[in-house]
Amino acid sequence: MQRENWASRLGFMLAAMGSAVGLGNIWRFSYVAGESGGGAFLILYIISVLVIGIPLLLVEVSIGRKAQQDVVGSYKKLVPNKPWFMVGYLGVLGTMLILSFYSVVAGWSLYYLWGYITGAMVPMPENGYGAAFDSFITQDYAPIFWHGLFLALTMLIVLVGIKNGIELANKILMPVLALLMIGLAVYSVTLPGAGEGLAFLFQPDWSVLKDPSVYFSAMGQAFFSLSLGIGTMLTYGSYLSKSQKLPGPVVGIGVLDTLFAIISGVVIFPAVFAFNIDPSSGPTLVFITLPEIFHQMSFGHVIAIIFFTALSFATISSSISLLEVPVAYLMRAAKLSRPLASFLVSIVIFILGVTVSLGMGKWSGITPIGDRNILDSMDYIASNIFMPVGGLTMALLMGWYWNKSEALSSTDLSEKKIGDVWYLLIKFSAPILILIIFLNQIGNV
Ligand code: PHE
Ligand code: NA
Repeated sequence: MQRENWASRLGFMLAAMGSAVGLGNIWRFSYVAGESGGGAFLILYIISVLVIGIPLLLVEVSIGRKAQQDVVGSYKKLVPNKPWFMVGYLGVLGTMLILSFYSVVAGWSLYYLWGYITGAMVPMPENGYGAAFDSFITQDYAPIFWHGLFLALTMLIVLVGIKNGIELANKILMPVLALLMIGLAVYSVTLPGAGEGLAFLFQPDWSVLKDPSVYFSAMGQAFFSLSLGIGTMLTYGSYLSKSQKLPGPVVGIGVLDTLFAIISGVVIFPAVFAFNIDPSSGPTLVFITLPEIFHQMSFGHVIAIIFFTALSFATISSSISLLEVPVAYLMRAAKLSRPLASFLVSIVIFILGVTVSLGMGKWSGITPIGDRNILDSMDYIASNIFMPVGGLTMALLMGWYWNKSEALSSTDLSEKKIGDVWYLLIKFSAPILILIIFLNQIGNV
């Protein structure tokens, strides 16, 4: 069977941006930054994006374009008869783990969207938005319904193929989301007490740098936000043809994704302090701050509907990229049709997601890793371990397995200076930094 291709380089760029920009920028960024002390974390995160993230993004996409295969198949093809392909399975597993909790959180945001459409979310709940949200996610059935609905939508898109629907929707909704975020940021900055929130985000408290886990979290956030290291960008790259040139779009994706995260920090943290919310309150942070903001605003109800619509689209463009990784793998390895592969993987992810959802409520006592509940544990394994290990492997393949001219030609880096800098980064800096951050963290545990 003929493998599919993007219609154009722009199509690839939109899809890859759609993959990158998602819940990671708004939901995950704000709570990880909140737990890791704010400003100093932001700086480490930006350094990770520049020194490790963007250079590796180029590595990952170009490996896919070169191999024209799914994540396992790419390693098998490029490094025959050696165990490198095992890392491909980390990608298949990692994307499934991420999608399991991603879909649950996306379900929460669909529930909000619905709540604003019906008006149920509009009046301030009796014990405030925090308590109302908490009582929603700790229920047994309702959150699972929204998770299932979101996953079904994701499956339907992947099942059909990628080109038409999602690219167009993103083209319209991503700019809307960007404008709304900027508007909300301006509004949030005018809230009483906003200064404290901005200081938290932009005035680094260097003392948090003594804690090795901050480096680990910053690197994990960079990988998560850029959809890096577990084969998403590789798989998307595999639908590019060699005539579609590389470095440009990759830099655009990295910069845009990071801007989205910073802007969402500017939305969230002033509100966090204005409404006396604890910045380290974890994964529920944005779901409590945002309704508070909307409640205070005139026309907040309408803005909320537009906002959650745009967020849902940004989210679904990421979730389809996650689902595409195991689906592309199964289509090749098990010779399944696209619909059947999509369906089977979705069932598994649905079940995993049910455990995530129950882990917020009646199974909250289950803490597989440290004191992390099921959601946080899955996130920790995938984002802080699988993704960096995948990224490290890709860097080694590009920097050490191939020679320099092969590396440069596979990425279309013809500009000599930039090519040299990039090569140094992926051959030495990125792998060494990833290793140091790992060892440091292990020493800490
Ligand atoms: N980058 C996406 C986000 O920020 C999440 C994601 C991770 C998507 C890994 C694909 C692969 O929301
Ligand atoms: Na992101």
